[in-house]
Amino acid sequence: MVDKVKELLKKHNITLAAHYYQKDEIFDIADLTGDSLELAKKTSKLKNPLIFCGVSFMGESAKILNPNIPVYMPRLASCSMARMAEKEKVEDNIKLLKENNIEFIPITYINSSAEIKAIVGKLEGLTCTSSNAKKIVSSALDQGKKVFFLPDKNLGQNVAKMLNVTSSIIGEKNWQEADIICFNGHCSVHQLFMPEHVEFYKEKYPEIKIVVHPECSPEVCEMADFVGSTSQILNYVKEHKNDLMAIGTEYNFVHRMKRDINPNIYILSSTKPECPSMNETTLKELHDLLIAIDKGKPYNEIKVDENIKENALKALNRMMELS
Ligand code: 13P
Ligand code: SF4
Repeated sequence: MVDKVKELLKKHNITLAAHYYQKDEIFDIADLTGDSLELAKKTSKLKNPLIFCGVSFMGESAKILNPNIPVYMPRLASCSMARMAEKEKVEDNIKLLKENNIEFIPITYINSSAEIKAIVGKLEGLTCTSSNAKKIVSSALDQGKKVFFLPDKNLGQNVAKMLNVTSSIIGEKNWQEADIICFNGHCSVHQLFMPEHVEFYKEKYPEIKIVVHPECSPEVCEMADFVGSTSQILNYVKEHKNDLMAIGTEYNFVHRMKRDINPNIYILSSTKPECPSMNETTLKELHDLLIAIDKGKPYNEIKVDENIKENALKALNRMMELS
C-alpha cells in the first residue's frame, strides 16, 4: 500500500503534509511534517495540490492561507477542543465582555473553526498556536487592552503565568479584572495528565525531567521542568538525548521521539493518551483518497465559506506577520 501511495502522490504531483500527532504509518512517508505553525507556514508556500493529514482546522487553515491550490484530507477529523468553541457560545461571551465595557483583543488558538477565526478577525483579533502564543498575547497586552483568549483555558492561563499577568475564566469570580479572560474550553487529551502522575515519576526517579505541552492544566505545568509546544518539546528532547524524561503530550509523538531520539522517555500517564481525532486518519484512508483522485472522483476537498474566508484570513495573516 505504501508503494501505491507514493506512486500516486508522484503521478498527481501532490504534497503530503502530516502533523506530529499522526500515526507513524502516515508520518513516516510525509513530504512535510511539523507542528501546527510550521505546517501552516510550509503549506502556504505550495503551488501544487496538497493532502493534509491532521485535524480539520489544519486543513482549513492551509486552504485559507493558500486558496489557489486544492487541499484534501483523507478524513475530516475534528479536534474536540475546536468543537467546544461553538459559534453561539463565543458570541455570548463576546456580548458579555461588551456589556461589561471591557476593551479586549480576541485571540483564538488555531485549534478553532474557520467560523470562529472569522469572528475574531472581524473584531481586529488574531490567531495563535502553542509555539507563538506567548509572543502574540504579549503584543496584544502591549496595546493596553485585555485579551479574550479562546478556546483553551489552560493555554490562556499558562501564558498568563509566563507573562506574569493575571487570568481568569469568563463568568468565574472577578473575571472582569483579569488581564487574560479565557473561554472555558480544554483539550480532552492533555487534561489526562495529572499532578499525581508528576509526583509518581518524581518519587520513582528523582533525576527525571518532566516535560509537558501548555494545553496541560496550570497545576501540571507548574510542576514541570519544561513547558513547550510540540516543536519546542522536540527541540528539548534533541538537546537532552540521554536524560530520563516523562512527557505529557500526545502518544504518537512521544512514542516516535522514544523510537528515534531518546529511549529513556516515559509517557506521563497511566493511560495511552492518543488524540482520537488525529488517530482517525489511516494509511488505508490516504490510499483510498488517492485512488479516488486517480479515477477523477476526488472527495474531502476543503472548501471554506466565502462569507467567512476574508475575516478568517485576516486573523491568520496577523499571526503570520508576528511569527
Ligand atoms: P501544536 O501547535 O503544538 O502543533 O499543537 C497542536 C495541538 O493540537 C496540540 O494538541
Ligand atoms: Fe485537539 Fe487535543 Fe487532539 Fe490537539 S490533542 S488535536 S487539541 S483534541
